[in-house]
Amino acid sequence: MNERSERIAICPGSYDPVTNGHLDIIRRAARVFDRIVVGVVDVQIRKREPIFTAAERKGFIEDALADNGLDNVEVDVFSNLLVEFARQHGAKVIVKGLRAISDFEYEFEMNQLNHTLAPDIESVFILASPDYSFIRSTGVKEMATFGGDVSELVPPNVVAALNERLHGG
Ligand code: PNS
Repeated sequence: MNERSERIAICPGSYDPVTNGHLDIIRRAARVFDRIVVGVVDVQIRKREPIFTAAERKGFIEDALADNGLDNVEVDVFSNLLVEFARQHGAKVIVKGLRAISDFEYEFEMNQLNHTLAPDIESVFILASPDYSFIRSTGVKEMATFGGDVSELVPPNVVAALNERLHGG
């Protein structure tokens, strides 16, 4: 298949840190599209300072996906407009996961803004599996901060990294 006819999609996010819910969306998107570029945002807008650097967050995703044999997924860091990042990769689709109605309002707004800037790029939403519909990076960090077991919520490399970053090993 030549590059022009490849269906390339971006899975963007802060991924601070990546959760099993994110990984589920990425794996499912990788079955629908020819190529997935996971975009790790390296800018701070409306959010608190991330606890992991963009390079660390990228590494966690790459490690977590390494065992899945997904040869059509790559991870890249970006700090420009999402639609520009999509264009740089030749992507016509932005994939987002939707967990609950609470996600809808924010994603609806982002979709309108992105669509205004780039009407040729379509946003596609994948509904979270019931197993992961309650997982949010912010909640994971809060639980881990207070010693909660997050091993069911994030991949093993992230459990170890959270423990080290928050509790010094
Ligand atoms: O909720 P997240 O994971 O922090 O979302 C990050 C991202 C980039 C997916 C979201 O902010 C978005 O959809 N932004 C689109 C608007 C844009 O291009 N912003 C500038 C780069 S963050």
